[in-house]
Amino acid sequence: MKPAKTVKDYIRSIVDFPHEGIVFRDVTTLFADARGFRMAVDQLLSPYAGVPIDKVVGLEARGFILGGAVAHQLTTGFVPIRKKGKLPGAVISQAYQLEYGEAVMEIHDDALNPGERVLIVDDLLATGGTARAAIDLCRRLGAEVVGAAFVIDLPELGGRRVVEAAGVEVHALTEFD
Ligand code: PRP
Ligand code: ADE
Repeated sequence: MKPAKTVKDYIRSIVDFPHEGIVFRDVTTLFADARGFRMAVDQLLSPYAGVPIDKVVGLEARGFILGGAVAHQLTTGFVPIRKKGKLPGAVISQAYQLEYGEAVMEIHDDALNPGERVLIVDDLLATGGTARAAIDLCRRLGAEVVGAAFVIDLPELGGRRVVEAAGVEVHALTEFD
């Protein structure tokens, strides 16, 4: 009998995207499969059983797909953190380092209330810059970040250390070299 498929088995790897030398871990193949998608959402949630969570915060772009499903399952609200200039209302902004240069993430300034407990969700943790910016934005609105959940961790890029140094526990379903 063939072993049951794991979340990792549904993720496609595309060589030399978006640049030569990068192996892009493509979760669209995971999202497209009913079993795979449900497995991923269930596993993202598993450490938080019994943990009070008021809102799920999803990071553009694939964190919206996962975070929306997680929020539905938890019966919480969903809050997007987006790249600069995409949100229509008043925002607060946080710059973060990319491999080359800087980028800016934003959240609506009324999206979280002081004291709310939030779970951050994204597809992938690489250097941790995006997740760290998200943590900072949530905290600037007075929210408490109870965890950060990812489908994929790329351990060689050190993101886990960055997030944990900010005092937030990381939950990742699988790793790639
Ligand atoms: C990817 C990924 C994470 C981020 C992780 O998104 O979905 O959000 O990179 O990288 P980091 O840990 O080094 O910050 P990307 O910036 O490619 O944007 P996209 O989702 O809009 O394609
Ligand atoms: N973001 C940073 N590195 C990545 C990779 N290898 N695959 C998908 N998204 C990424």
